[in-house]
Amino acid sequence: MPMPPAARGQPGPAGRGLLYPRFFLAGIALTLSAGAGWGAWLLLRIARERDFAEVSIFEINAHGQAQIYGWMGLFIAGFALQMFPAFWGARLVAPRLARALLPAMVVAVVLRAFTEARPDGRFADLAIAAGALQFALVLLLVGLFAATARRRSAPGRVADRFLAAGLAWFVLASALDLRHLARTVRAPDREALLAEIATWQLPLRDLQIHGLALSMILGVSLRVLPGLFGTPLADERRARRLFWPIQLAVFAAAMLFPLAMATRRPLLLVGFWIATVVFAVAAALAAANLQVFARPRVELPRVSPLAFVRAAHVWLVVSLAMLVAGPFWSWLLDLPFSHAWHGATRHAITVGFVSFMMIGVASRITPRPPGSGAAGAALPLAPFALLNLGCALRVSQQVLTDLMPTAFVPAGVSGVIEVTGLAWWATWIVPRLVRANRPIASARAALAEATEPIPDGR
Ligand code: HEM
Repeated sequence: MPMPPAARGQPGPAGRGLLYPRFFLAGIALTLSAGAGWGAWLLLRIARERDFAEVSIFEINAHGQAQIYGWMGLFIAGFALQMFPAFWGARLVAPRLARALLPAMVVAVVLRAFTEARPDGRFADLAIAAGALQFALVLLLVGLFAATARRRSAPGRVADRFLAAGLAWFVLASALDLRHLARTVRAPDREALLAEIATWQLPLRDLQIHGLALSMILGVSLRVLPGLFGTPLADERRARRLFWPIQLAVFAAAMLFPLAMATRRPLLLVGFWIATVVFAVAAALAAANLQVFARPRVELPRVSPLAFVRAAHVWLVVSLAMLVAGPFWSWLLDLPFSHAWHGATRHAITVGFVSFMMIGVASRITPRPPGSGAAGAALPLAPFALLNLGCALRVSQQVLTDLMPTAFVPAGVSGVIEVTGLAWWATWIVPRLVRANRPIASARAALAEATEPIPDGR
C-alpha cells in the first residue's frame, strides 16, 4: 500500500530535508542519555538500597522532564511539523522557525537535566530558566500549528479534535510543569517540598500522559494507522462520542486530586477515583475503536512495526486496569498510598504504550534502505523482545516490592534490559533517519521507495 499523501508530509524550506528525521534523532539521543539511560541508573541505585526514596525527587524529575520534552516531546513536534500541515491541506507557517525549535529544545532539556538534578544555589535559577524556555518553545510550537490550521483547505475530521486537544494539554501541562518546577527547586524546607510533590506531581503527570500523550496518539492513529498498516478504518462517530468523556475526565481528575489533598475531604478523593474510572473506560474504548488487532489488509513481516503498535495497546489496557485498581491495592496492604503500584502503572503507560506507539509509527514512516525491498520493512526481533521483557519485569516486580524486598533485584535489572532494547532499535533506525535527513529530492525518493512494495489491499 503506498503511503497516503497525508502520511508523506511536506518538505521543509526549499532545498532542505524532511523536518522529522532530525527531531527523531535528537529524541533518541536524549532518551538514551538523560532519559531512559539515566532512568536505568536510578533504578539500579533504588534496587541496591531496596528503597524508592534512595534517589532524590529532583533526579527523578530531571529524568522525567528529559523523557517528556526530549523523547516524547521531540517526537510529537517532529511528527506534527511534518504531517499536520499535510492532514489539513495547508503549508506550514514559518518552517525556518520550526527548525530552530529543535536546537533550542535540546539546550533546554540538557540544561534542565543537569541543574534540576541538584538544584543548589544558582542551579535552581538555571533549572527554572530552562523550564521557562521549554514553556516558551511549547507556546511557539502550538502557535505555529494554530496559524497553520487557519490556512487549512481540507475538511475537518474527528482526529483533528484529538490533535487540538493534545496541543492544548501540551500548553497547560507545560505551564503547570514550570510552576511545579519553581515550587520544588525553591521549596524553603523539606515539608514544603513534600507538600508540593504530594499535591501537584500526580495531576501534572496526568496532564502530560493522559492528556497530551493519549490525545495525540489517538488523533494521529485515527489519521494514519489504516494507511500505514492496512488496519480497518476506525468508526468516526464512536471516536467523536468518546472525545469529551476522555477530555473531561482528565480535566476532572487533575482538578479533584489537588483539591482533595488541600482540603483532606475523602469525598473528593472518591470523585477523583470516579474520574479515573471514566477516563480508563473511555480511553480503552477509543483504543479498541482503532482495531489494531484486526487482520491487516496487507501482508506484513513477522516483526513489523505493527507488532509494536499492538503491544502498545496491550500495555495501555494493563496500565488503565492498574490505574483503576490502585486504591484497592493500597487498601489490601493497608498503605495510605503505594508508590510501587503507582510507579508501575505510570511505567506501563509511558514505556509500554507511549514509547511503543512512537517506535511503531517511527519505524513505519522512516524510509527503508534503497533496494532492501519488502525485507527492509521487518524489524529485528531483539528490540521488541527486550523492551517487552524489560517493561513486564519493571511493572510486575515494582509492584511486588510492596510484598518482598527481593523483587527489587529483577526490577533494577529491568531498566538495563529496556535501555538495551532501545539502543538495539536505535542501531536499526538511526541510519535510516540519517538517510532521510538528506536534501529533499533524494529523501522524498527514498520515502516513496520505502512504502511502495506493500501492495494496496483495498
Ligand atoms: C525506558 C526506561 C525507563 C526507565 C529505566 C525509567 C526509570 C524511572 C525511574 C527509576 C523512575 C523513578 C521511580 C518511580 O517513580 O517509579 C522514573 C520516573 C519517571 N519516569 Fe521513567 N523510566 C523509563 C522510561 C520513561 C519514559 C519513556 C517516560 C516518559 C515518556 C518516563 C517518564 C518518567 C516520569 C515522568 C517519572 C516521574 C514519575 C512520577 O512523577 O511519579 N520514563 N522513571
